[in-house]
Amino acid sequence: MAESSKTAPLRIALAGLGTVGAGVIRLIEANAALIARRAGRPIQITAVSARDRGKDRGVDMTRYVWEDDMIILGEREDVDVVVELVGGSDGPALACARTTIEAGKALVTANKAMIAHHGLKLAEMAEAAKVALKFEAAVAGGIPVIKGLREGAAANEIERVYGILNGTCNYILSTMEDTGRSFADVLAEAQAKGFAEADPAFDVEGTDAAHKLSILAAIAYGTRIDFASVETAGITRIRAADIAQADALGYVIRLIGMAEEDRSGETPRLFQRVQPHLVPFDHPLAHVDGATNAVVAEGNYSGRLLFQGAGAGDGPTASAVVADLIDIARGDIGAPFSVPVSELEALAPASSGHRLGRTYIRFTVADRPGVLAEIAAAMRDAGVSIESLIQKGRAEAEGEVLLAIVTHEGPESAVTEALRLLEGSASLTAAPLVMQILGE
Ligand code: HSE
Repeated sequence: MAESSKTAPLRIALAGLGTVGAGVIRLIEANAALIARRAGRPIQITAVSARDRGKDRGVDMTRYVWEDDMIILGEREDVDVVVELVGGSDGPALACARTTIEAGKALVTANKAMIAHHGLKLAEMAEAAKVALKFEAAVAGGIPVIKGLREGAAANEIERVYGILNGTCNYILSTMEDTGRSFADVLAEAQAKGFAEADPAFDVEGTDAAHKLSILAAIAYGTRIDFASVETAGITRIRAADIAQADALGYVIRLIGMAEEDRSGETPRLFQRVQPHLVPFDHPLAHVDGATNAVVAEGNYSGRLLFQGAGAGDGPTASAVVADLIDIARGDIGAPFSVPVSELEALAPASSGHRLGRTYIRFTVADRPGVLAEIAAAMRDAGVSIESLIQKGRAEAEGEVLLAIVTHEGPESAVTEALRLLEGSASLTAAPLVMQILGE
């Protein structure tokens, strides 16, 4: 008699054998017995595929069937689940995901760009085929934040979800803070250490964090993924002087992704933004240093939940991938976004204008009389109240100084209006840098 599908090994294929792929192989081998006990059956790798067959990956690949074409891994009879670790929103990763689901097999992926762009379509396909689609490793690496929201906090209305979703940016900002070094210098080091994406612009311009935020928002609010509406700003314009000024005021700078449901109007809207923020020294996110990620979810019954851990790396990412495999081995097919795609709400994007908060604005200005008066007049005319102002010495470029203003709490729309009034002013030598101050 054939082994029952509940006790037979779960047979997996790996598409992509980079750092994470090798990590998955090592984890499945090292913890085989406990994984089998917890999953109720063994997890077994049967086939693998990657671009370069000859590359030394530090693990013995000869035990597995090699498939040159990763797109057809899911069509193999000896494969129940394909683990896609190729990356990229389209191309081979997407083709592999589609063929796998079309073949009636489950898909586990760490690919945040693909889920942010195509997750709804893939989830519809998976729901129709009654197969699992899981992507815990796509958001915040080893931190079980998708499970945390889908399962642990499932009974709560989530009032706000926000956090540090990109390890490269966090490494750069916290190293600039510790050493006083420049952005470009520390970016080069992050690339050498290997956390940065293949294209570092995805990290430092906030795109990677925006991919992850759009996925978290969909899970937290039961809404359709809307990556295109995430207001995104990166960290490339932050100078050592901003970090020093933030420090003098009692803050660190962190790139924060934040999603909130705005129910203030007649119809609910979804606010999603990735932007560097000033984080007060006593906020838990101020203590998240290096390549670490952290996510805060505020549930209406749970209160503030903090998830923190490694957001990248072979071990942590493999841990998230294998957790998904264990769920599948246990028979958990569940809707990929908790509720079926047809029931996800399509919320219009909320603009930031209605939000109340304190803002840090750093101007780069010509060093001559009347400049401060001009800026102060624009603030006055737009109804922005200034809480503090710092101008220290002469800045790096000749005749140019940095002027930092912190506003009292007020609508963000007023700050936008003040900056509009200053547009084209000959006193400003570059566009101002605007960062919100993270509230309680
Ligand atoms: N480049 C990403 C980061 C890796 O720096 O967080 C994990 O998605």
